[in-house]
Amino acid sequence: MKPTPKKKVEIRPDRSTKAFQDFLLGAKLYWGSKLYQALYDEYREKVSLRKGIEPESFKEAEQMMKGTTYSFFAWLERHIQRLKYSDPIYGLVAAANRQREELLQALDEIQPNEHLRLNPSIKFPRYYEAVDFHQHPGGVSGDELAGFVYEYARKTTVPHFIHEDDLHFRMARAVPKGDYKRILDFGCGVGKSTYPFKDLYPEAEVHGCDISAPCLKVAHLRAKESGREIFYSQQNMEATDYPDEYFDLVHTTFIQHEFPLHALEKITREAYRILKPGGLYVNLDFHSAPGGMFGKFCYFGHSKRNNEVFMRVFHDFDYIGLLRKVGFSEAQMLPFDDGTGYVSQDEVPKNWRFPWQLFVSKK
Ligand SMILES: C[S@@+](CC[C@H](N)C(=O)[O-])C[C@H]1O[C@@H](n2cnc3c(N)ncnc32)[C@H](O)[C@@H]1O
Repeated sequence: MKPTPKKKVEIRPDRSTKAFQDFLLGAKLYWGSKLYQALYDEYREKVSLRKGIEPESFKEAEQMMKGTTYSFFAWLERHIQRLKYSDPIYGLVAAANRQREELLQALDEIQPNEHLRLNPSIKFPRYYEAVDFHQHPGGVSGDELAGFVYEYARKTTVPHFIHEDDLHFRMARAVPKGDYKRILDFGCGVGKSTYPFKDLYPEAEVHGCDISAPCLKVAHLRAKESGREIFYSQQNMEATDYPDEYFDLVHTTFIQHEFPLHALEKITREAYRILKPGGLYVNLDFHSAPGGMFGKFCYFGHSKRNNEVFMRVFHDFDYIGLLRKVGFSEAQMLPFDDGTGYVSQDEVPKNWRFPWQLFVSKK
């Protein structure tokens, strides 16, 4: 595919908005390093006052940390993210609205074609609509510009100190090498997790599937701009129209923790159905936080403060058990280096970090 030689259509924050968003990023780095470290010191102090007895649950840990840096830590975490999207002047939603006409016009020019299948009558599951995940107002489907907003917002999401796209290349490189003819990114969002696979396997037919049309349109736009041939399709991952045994590799990034268990099981079964025998199902997600109760305390707190309602459920869920139950002959959970180094299960991360794990399963 030839790249389209056009000015990139994207959110271009004005100077004040850019300064505000940069300030938030700086605040987040401070929160995830200095403040996090201070929190850890106070946590250890509190535990030593209890003669070394660790709290047994997240709730008990929260109780123990009352009156410490924790209040500020938690407040700052919640509100950095809230302001990022929702500050009435400098938030990303406001920035997108200032360019509404231009962005909508670019979207209007995109007609469904063989590289972009859309389904205007798709039904959103309740779990998808009921909560503003990541505190994104209306979620990533709630507004026609949501894809642009999500694309920009990811710059300041994860991981700390690392370029936003690096993580997805790391993921693609961490997948065992194979002669993949067809690859699917399940829950591809704006395509950031899809295109590294096209770069790594240029001969492969690469697909991305997501339920959000606003995200898929941005993904398609970026694929066209960069000359990558990728086939995007708007579908619910719980039941797709891909034929049985169609793909050699199905992968996901940041997906499992977003589903209630009944939906997670359906998606896992669907991945199994559309994979060829011997094909790989690879998931990058968060599970089994390292660093004992302190690690869990930070991660569970994040879930609460960022509206990630199923995160805690997935963290404690026997996902390997589900993969085996569905039929995968091999399934393992492997550590993942997000760019800040590997962290063993016992280690308390030096800076705030998601509990990355790579799940690799074979049909
Ligand atoms: C956290 S984002 C991850 C996007 C992408 N994988 C990435 O790494 O940037 C989760 C994505 O899953 C999509 N999603 C959630 N539920 C879905 C469903 N039932 N079917 C298809 N996509 C779904 C959302 O629309 C969103 O784009």
